[in-house]
Amino acid sequence: MGTDKKSEPLNRVDGRAKVTGKAKYFAEFEVPGLTYCVMVTSTITRGTITTIDTKNAERAPGVLAVYTHLNMPAVPGWADQPNSNAKLPSGGEKYRMLGSNKILFNGQPIALVVANTLERAQYGASLVTATYNKTEHQTDLLKNTQKAAMPGRFGDYTRGEQKEAYKTAPVTISADYTIPVEVHNPMELAGILAIWEGEDQLKVYAKTQGVKATQRTLAGAFKIPEKNIQVYSEFVGGGFGMGLRTWPQEVAVVAAARQLKKPVKLVMTRQQMFSLVGHRPYTIQHISMGADKDGQLQGIYHEATAETANYDDFTEGTVAMTRFMYGCPNVTTKYRIVPLDRGVPIWMRGPGEATGAFALESAIDEMAYKVNMDPLDFRVKNFAATDPEKNKPFSSNNLKEAYQLGSEQIGWHKRNREPRSMKDGEWLVGYGMSTGVFGAHRGESTCRAQLNADGTLILQSATSDIGPGTSTAMVQIAHEVTGLPIKKIRFELGDASLPPSGSQGGSATVSSVGSAVFDTCTALKALLTEAGLAFEDGTVKPVAGKTATMQEVLTAQQKTFFEVTKSSKGGAEQDKYSMYSFSIHFAEVRVHPHTGVVRVKRVVTVADSGRIVSPKTAASQMIGGVTGGIGMALTEEAVIDHRYGRFVNNNLGDYHVPVSADVPHIETIFIDKPDPYSNPMGSKGMGEIALIGFSAAVANAVYHATGKRIRELPITPDKIL
Ligand code: MOS
Repeated sequence: MGTDKKSEPLNRVDGRAKVTGKAKYFAEFEVPGLTYCVMVTSTITRGTITTIDTKNAERAPGVLAVYTHLNMPAVPGWADQPNSNAKLPSGGEKYRMLGSNKILFNGQPIALVVANTLERAQYGASLVTATYNKTEHQTDLLKNTQKAAMPGRFGDYTRGEQKEAYKTAPVTISADYTIPVEVHNPMELAGILAIWEGEDQLKVYAKTQGVKATQRTLAGAFKIPEKNIQVYSEFVGGGFGMGLRTWPQEVAVVAAARQLKKPVKLVMTRQQMFSLVGHRPYTIQHISMGADKDGQLQGIYHEATAETANYDDFTEGTVAMTRFMYGCPNVTTKYRIVPLDRGVPIWMRGPGEATGAFALESAIDEMAYKVNMDPLDFRVKNFAATDPEKNKPFSSNNLKEAYQLGSEQIGWHKRNREPRSMKDGEWLVGYGMSTGVFGAHRGESTCRAQLNADGTLILQSATSDIGPGTSTAMVQIAHEVTGLPIKKIRFELGDASLPPSGSQGGSATVSSVGSAVFDTCTALKALLTEAGLAFEDGTVKPVAGKTATMQEVLTAQQKTFFEVTKSSKGGAEQDKYSMYSFSIHFAEVRVHPHTGVVRVKRVVTVADSGRIVSPKTAASQMIGGVTGGIGMALTEEAVIDHRYGRFVNNNLGDYHVPVSADVPHIETIFIDKPDPYSNPMGSKGMGEIALIGFSAAVANAVYHATGKRIRELPITPDKIL
């Protein structure tokens, strides 16, 4: 590893378990005496509960308890760590689920009904009635921009001259861009299954992107030691960011289970997923740009304003890409958040950057046309060879090669660049491209290796797999370090009692956990050397001059296996370089001139994400990200009726996530060159860049097809016509 040698494409090590139903998700665990929780949620958006009637629910068959703000068992940690965020520029207010009669957003839980079957809990929940004292709510970002404030994180940035720089350039553009609320909508619904033994031993099966994070949250909430809490989450049916928090309703269910002294399971409904587990925030952006007549960028001004909740701040890197992506002497970025009477947003795949890249990469395309340059040549001309924001060299940056490979594959230069110039029957044909970028992060991670006498290797780490195939990549790394056959290596994750690792988020798992696996396997090799043994021909053999077999050595050492545990994190050299993964997306679209329907016909997507550890799952990762990007570009939009402050399309029928019929063949290309500084494998992340920028490639292709710039996602037919 860390070399130019390519990895072989492996099938998923857990693929069979997944397609045969053997893989168990949190909701599938059966425990004796299991009870079921259903939430009743607020129908108003702001105000107070005046009365809540639970009598009929309590008398309903099988109902064991109904919890409201009047009888909710205390969550000890919530007293001093309320779900409120003092960092909110507006000061914010406290949200304690079932902790008071205050309603802060529509869909906020007002009661938990627990029964001995799911159906009885659902029926019980239908019998809970509430009356409210409604007050005026604000859910519309556009009507509340006067509340925009700079968050504690992400201050303003300026390089060169202030805002006005772009104005003095010979060629200028200026426009606004809008991203709607998007909801993660993974297949698997959110929730938790909580089992207490006594008052201070807890076991949960959770839907989470971080078993350690869930363990930490619950330890804090219930003021019990982390080691008393077992968290299991071996399989997760998609996360996209919503599983990066243990949400208040999940904590509340754990509190209910403690008081009831029964295992309680909550599986949220699809409707509830729209309000209670975060979303990509509605964001409006403004970009102004100036360039020379020969296409040299002179100035960029980028301002983003996004929603957050009244009770919590949420911030993300919306303007981050603009600060360094192009060699431009004058750049100003601003980022503001507006508190609204809404559930809090959270990171959603490519968080922030995906939103920002839509605006930036649309503007770049527009400017290229305005200076009469090919958008690809314009990007190459403004390529930043070193990071202009941090003034550091990139650890690796193969963008130019990526532009070339992708453009050749899609046939970029064979197109007629003129807008509305290409046709396929009655359909208008368009080609568009864009760039994506995301930090190549690496966190601390620990791995334990157990090498058994039969030559099987078990690796363990408390990481997660929300779908990308973490175990497969880890087994591949171990295979490449040790030479042991794939089938002799097993990687175990999704259990908080395993050696600690971070959550699966920010495209960092292969880099973080993979480094720990690499270092652990390397240490195992050293341990074998000391014992006169070595990995050889896919097994363990005595080194030259020695005769004792592994079994004999283990017996002599009174052991049944060799064991190594190693922690791993990035070194000081990481600070010397600016580390990013890059993607280039090319999209070919068809636009119907009479109906305004847009179909993505073909996609070529190129990733510069260092050395590819696991080619097959990496390709799947890119395909998944592009699929999410098609949704962002064309279909996904959670619509709020601001009169009522609630979503009107909170279901998969009306909120359309792309399905196979929406997704064409997606060609993935990897530069597959090791980054010399990122980690021992030379890999960089991939989860976010698969999506970041893609929506702009589609918008740019729609412009090429129609001559019309759509700056408001999703690009629905009404906007084309
Ligand atoms: Mo991702 S938005 O870091 O799950």
